[in-house]
Amino acid sequence: MPERAARVLLGITGGIAAYKGAYLVRRLRERGLAVRCAPTLAAESFVSPLTLEVLSGDRVYGQEYLARDGGSDGAELHVEAAQWADLLCVAPATANTLARLALGLADDFLSTTALMFEGPVVVAPAMHDAMWRKPAVEGRVATLRDRGVEVVGPVEGALASGERGWGRMAEPEAIVDAVCRALGLPEAEDEASVGPLAGRKVVVTAGPTYEAIDPVRFLGNRSSGRMGFALARQAAIRGALVTLIAGPVKLETPAGVRRVDVVSAAEMEAALREAAHDADLVVMAAAVADYRPRECAEQKMKKSGGDGLVLELEENPDLLAGLAAVAPRAQRVGFAAETEDLERSARKKLKAKGAHWIVANDVSRPDIGFESADNEVVVFGGNGEVERFPKQSKDELAGRLLELFAGEAT
Ligand code: PMT
Repeated sequence: MPERAARVLLGITGGIAAYKGAYLVRRLRERGLAVRCAPTLAAESFVSPLTLEVLSGDRVYGQEYLARDGGSDGAELHVEAAQWADLLCVAPATANTLARLALGLADDFLSTTALMFEGPVVVAPAMHDAMWRKPAVEGRVATLRDRGVEVVGPVEGALASGERGWGRMAEPEAIVDAVCRALGLPEAEDEASVGPLAGRKVVVTAGPTYEAIDPVRFLGNRSSGRMGFALARQAAIRGALVTLIAGPVKLETPAGVRRVDVVSAAEMEAALREAAHDADLVVMAAAVADYRPRECAEQKMKKSGGDGLVLELEENPDLLAGLAAVAPRAQRVGFAAETEDLERSARKKLKAKGAHWIVANDVSRPDIGFESADNEVVVFGGNGEVERFPKQSKDELAGRLLELFAGEAT
């Protein structure tokens, strides 16, 4: 990457999420990136070129392209824009634009520039989830992925129609993360020097563990990793040096976070030993399997012919309970996933696992806990503290939890 600020050409296409394009410009600039915007004609109905020009502090490639205006050095504008940019980001990317990018159509400024552009491309789809699930869209997205295009989101949440579903554009922070990663921008270790957790070493576990039954089957659970990833992201934003130990999940790595991927509880334990020995704070948001099959069959198990199947399970080690030996300096935080008797069970775990804090959530509720965008928790401290956090986004909650733990993680 050259000495100058990295340059992002931001294509904005015509969906309601286009209004977030303006916010995205601001977030990209906060990361020190130079941004030029290329809204499509449809996007201009949602966000004005003037707004984008003011926020980006640079020119906007608007509809003057249609008037065949030349670039500053006489080159055509799509050539100039493609040569200027280090990365092309399209957010939001409508189903129409995704299809046109996949097909290589060149019938407006953005698609023509995209066809001309040689660098990394990040797209953030946004549409109704019924559209997102259509084979026509899936096929185009698969084509783009095969060509190395980074696809961020969509995520679950409120849609423009008033319904909920998997079609909402990823949050601008997640898009900025993907852009930074694609540009190879410095990791938190090089960057983190400010913020309430500056210089602190934070380890977060996230997602489920999978315990193999045979080469193709496993015991697992519904953890999506969202809570742990939110904690890792917010810790990095606050200046911490973050290692995220992630079970098998489909989430983008937050910017500035070192990620270690694991599958089983045993692998997570090994990764913790490696990462947590000098940690100041360890947050165990992962849903670690309590049990694993005593043996993993070497070949795919055959049907028994009606006799049923008995699996013998053995207990996994409790990683949180063993953490005092692994990370002696660290504040140790566990989560308690409960379906009944939340507070009593959480207090029991706090004591039994020797944690400094336990964050209890009710995983019987469909609107919080596993997989959802939001969470609501009660936090119990080893000194008898009780803090209640009402329902809010996992990212917001992660920030507040870290503020609580930060005071202790010295
Ligand atoms: O990932 P999401 O979809 O966002 O969902 C978030 C979540 C519901 C998974 C998260 O908020 C949560 O509750 N995580 C902990 C899940 C869990 O395993 O809870 P538990 O009550 O079974 O375990 C208590 C604590 O012990 C946890 O910190 C767990 O990481 C730890 N543990 C459990 C078993 C084991 N063998 N070793 C452990 O360290």
